[in-house]
Amino acid sequence: MPYRTIIEPFRIHTVEPIDFPTAEARKAALERSGYNLFELHADEVIIDLLTDSGTGAMSTSQWAGMMRGDESYAGSRSFYRFRDAVTAITGLAHVIPTHQGRAAERILFQTAVKPGDVVPNNTHFDTTRANVEFQGAEARDLVIEESHDHSSDYPFKGNMDVDRLRATISEVGRDRVPLVMLTVTNNSGGGQPVSLANLREVRSVCDEFDIPLFLDACRFAENAWFVKTREEGQQDRTPRDIAREMFSLVDGATMSAKKDGMSNIGGFLAMNDPALAEVCRNLLILTEGFPTYGGLAGYDLEAVARGLEEALDPEYLRYRIRSTAYLADKVDRAGIPIIKPPGGHAVYLDAAALLPHIPASQFPAQALACALYLEGGVRGVEIGSVMFGKRLEDGSEVPGPSELVRLAVPRRTYTQSHIDYVGEVLISVAERAEELIGLRLTYQAPWLRHFTARFEPVE
Ligand code: F0G
Repeated sequence: MPYRTIIEPFRIHTVEPIDFPTAEARKAALERSGYNLFELHADEVIIDLLTDSGTGAMSTSQWAGMMRGDESYAGSRSFYRFRDAVTAITGLAHVIPTHQGRAAERILFQTAVKPGDVVPNNTHFDTTRANVEFQGAEARDLVIEESHDHSSDYPFKGNMDVDRLRATISEVGRDRVPLVMLTVTNNSGGGQPVSLANLREVRSVCDEFDIPLFLDACRFAENAWFVKTREEGQQDRTPRDIAREMFSLVDGATMSAKKDGMSNIGGFLAMNDPALAEVCRNLLILTEGFPTYGGLAGYDLEAVARGLEEALDPEYLRYRIRSTAYLADKVDRAGIPIIKPPGGHAVYLDAAALLPHIPASQFPAQALACALYLEGGVRGVEIGSVMFGKRLEDGSEVPGPSELVRLAVPRRTYTQSHIDYVGEVLISVAERAEELIGLRLTYQAPWLRHFTARFEPVE
C-alpha cells in the first residue's frame, strides 16, 4: 500500500470562531491571572490545549440524540439507553450516572475508603488523589520504574509494578487496602497505556488478597487502541473487544465521559457488587440526583451513550492517536524534550530538561506554560510542582515528581494547521529557553492548589 496521510474521519459541520488577542493583551491577561492559566478567559486563548476534558466536538449523531433526551425525573428512557451502552462495553452489572468523573470518585471513596487506608493506583490523577486524601487515606502511586525514564520507549509505561503492589498490601495489611485502581491511560504519568498482561497480573494479585480492582476508565478506548497496536497477539482484535476484556478483569470503574465518552459533561460509576452499588446509589441521591439521571440532563445521557460507541471506532482511534503523535513530532523537532512515546490524549513537555536553570522551587513547568501562552496564545497545563508539590508547615516546598507541561488535544476539534501553529510557537519559546525566569507562589488553596494558585515572576 502506498503511504497515505491519516485524515480526520469527519467533515466540519459547525464552526466556532477563534479569538486572536494581541501580544500586549496576552501579557495583561497573564498578569491579571496571577500567572495561572486556569484564570484566563477562553477568549484570551488562541489554541486551547489545557485539557481534552469536555472540550471535544460532538458528532451529528450525538446532537441528533440530544433531541431524543427524555427529561423524566425517574425512569427516563435516556437513562436506559445510557445504561445499555455502558453495559455493552463494560459488562458491569450496576451503572450509576454521575455529572463527571470526580463525582463517581467521591461517591466510591466515601463509601469504600476509611481514614488510614491505602489506595494503590498506577498513578492517581489529581482529583482522584484529592478524593482519596479527603477521606483521610493515602493515595499510593505504584507505576513501573520505566515510567520515570522519560526517554524510554517502553510501550506500556502506564503499567503497575505488581511486586510493589504485593509488597504494599503485605506492608500495610489487606484490611487497610479497600481497593486497587488502575488508571487507563495513565494521565498523570504521560497518558501512557496499561497492557492487558499487566491488568491480568494486577487482577491476580487482587484475587490473592481478595481486594476489589477498579479502573479509572476515562481513556479506556485510547488504551484499547494502544493494546491493539502495541501488545503482542492483539493486532487482529477490535478496540471494542479489547475494551470488553479490560473491563471483564475488574470489579468496577469510575469514568469521566468528558474524555472517551466524547461528551461535554457526564460520567459514571459502575460495579458488580450489589451491596456496594446500593450504598453508592443512596449517596448519589443525596448529592447528585436520582439514580436514573445522576446530575445529568436526559440529553446528556444520550450524548454519552452515543459518544462511548464513537470512541471505539477504529478509524477514529487511528486518527486520534496519530494526531497526538503528529504534535509530538513537532515538539521533538523544536528540540523540546518530551515523555516518550507520546501518550494518547496529550504530549508532555519536560520543562526540567528544557529549563535546567530554573529550580523546582521556582516552578519551571508553570514558567514554560506561561511562556507558551505569551508567545502565541497556546494554553497548556502544568503537571509539576504546582500540581503535585506540597508546602510543609514550616513553609518549605516538597517538589512534585517531575516538571511537565501537558498539551492535551481535544477530540475532533483542531486541524493539522492548528497543530502546525502550535509547533511554531514551541520553536520560538525553545529558542529563547535560557531567558525564561521562574515564578514565586503568592497564594495557594489547601487542596488542588493548581486551580487557583497565584504567582509572580522571580526578579
Ligand atoms: N481520572 C482521570 C484519569 C482524569 O484524567 C480525570 C480528569 C478524572 C479522573 C476526573 O474526571 O474531570 O470528569 O471529574 N481529567 C481532566 C484532565 C480534568 O484535564 O486531565 P472529571
